[in-house]
Amino acid sequence: MYSIRSFYNFISPFYFCIDWFLNFHKKELIEALNQLPKGELLDVGIGQGSYIEKIKKHNITGIDLSEKMIKKCSKSHVKCIKMNAEKMSFLESTFDYVVLSHVLSVCENPNKVILESIRVLKPKGRIFILNHFSTNSIFRYIEKKFKYVFRVFKFDSYFTSENIKEVDRLQKEQEITLGFFRNYKLLIYQKP
Ligand SMILES: C[S@@+](CC[C@H](N)C(=O)[O-])C[C@H]1O[C@@H](n2cnc3c(N)ncnc32)[C@H](O)[C@@H]1O
Repeated sequence: MYSIRSFYNFISPFYFCIDWFLNFHKKELIEALNQLPKGELLDVGIGQGSYIEKIKKHNITGIDLSEKMIKKCSKSHVKCIKMNAEKMSFLESTFDYVVLSHVLSVCENPNKVILESIRVLKPKGRIFILNHFSTNSIFRYIEKKFKYVFRVFKFDSYFTSENIKEVDRLQKEQEITLGFFRNYKLLIYQKP
């Protein structure tokens, strides 16, 4: 089976189509990040980082498995590093904010990524999770039926909040439901 890295390296030239679609749900994330005091921000699985243009306030570090994705993320105010989010090389309590935007449903072990994000976050720091979540509707049924097909495309179509149980270690501050079908969420947590 091909890896997530190879998959994203392969689709990198066409990623702008997916990006266009995903950017609809980023308005609230951008607003929330721009309201925070200046700090060290880590974007996990930054991809091509198109939305990051709109975040000027913070010192931004972006990590990603795919070298071809981050090659396209060469913004002057972002430090991009090829790194696996399941095993980050940052010291504990390095960042004030960690962003996980449309990454948990594509990575191999979402809970390992969350554990690492918590480790590198400072106490009282915040984690921002933006993702689709299968809601209790007809979509949940369809997504469950087709989940193995979607996995071939390195995308977990059937993705529930139970997939991310490690966030129980954090205090939930906000939950914003987004999207025409109400199947996207922006979740904001604070580290105790
Ligand atoms: C759907 S894209 C989202 C990109 C960007 N965050 C956004 O919101 O547009 C998912 C990205 O996560 C990266 N990724 C997946 N698993 C990863 C991991 N374990 N460590 C680092 N990056 C990972 C992929 O290479 C890809 O660039």
